[in-house]
Amino acid sequence: MRKQIVAGNWKMNTNIAEGISLALDLRELENQFNNNVEVIVIPPFTHITEIMNALSDTNITVGAQNCAAEEKGAYTGEVSAEMIASLEASHVIIGHSERRAYYGETNEILNKKVKLALKNNLTPIYCCGEKLEEREAENHFNVVKTQISEGLFDLSEKEFSKIVIAYEPVWAIGTGVTASPEQAQEIHKYIREIIAEKYGKEISENISILYGGSVKPSNANEIFGKADVDGGLIGGAALKAEDFMGIINAF
Ligand code: PGA
Repeated sequence: MRKQIVAGNWKMNTNIAEGISLALDLRELENQFNNNVEVIVIPPFTHITEIMNALSDTNITVGAQNCAAEEKGAYTGEVSAEMIASLEASHVIIGHSERRAYYGETNEILNKKVKLALKNNLTPIYCCGEKLEEREAENHFNVVKTQISEGLFDLSEKEFSKIVIAYEPVWAIGTGVTASPEQAQEIHKYIREIIAEKYGKEISENISILYGGSVKPSNANEIFGKADVDGGLIGGAALKAEDFMGIINAF
């Protein structure tokens, strides 16, 4: 059985005091969370240790939003997978569309990051998703297939089994426009099919595929109700504990 996951990507939001306060709000509410859902919060790097302390006696795990494509050395400003792992963080987002768009991260670079994350026992949350013009040109299946195959398909079966995938159509991120549950299901099913072709049915059935893009407590239930949607990667709504809980409890 694959895991149901809700991960909150805080992006570049909250100073340290605000971040701790949000974590403490989540800790207060945690006894009301749906126990079947794995809950991950993903604050900025600077907050990870403090947020882990604030959530220490809960089941909520803490991840990072990115990691370097190199192991170590003269890369000013970068944060390595090993550094993140040494904080005991659990997950790392790789290939978020904002990283692809604003920082020129290609599938080739992301492939290096994925391997370094796995080497350090971090679970990569590998993001894919098409831009509006790509969907309008009905090219979204190809775009997603290329992102997944170039980023992930040289992994061994054992490595690939550890990946979480997040499908996030760029036109739905932070825009208030959500993919319809049918649109999400159609592409999640397709992603599972291409994984099955490459790694076989068993592995593809066990991979969690999250949807991201303007998920809110009011629309989460319909989206999570689809057969191939195993949870969400949440941006804006992860910044309010009550809203985040509403999404966790939407399954
Ligand atoms: P959003 O962001 O929920 O604010 O649309 C999702 C994401 O970028 O992960």
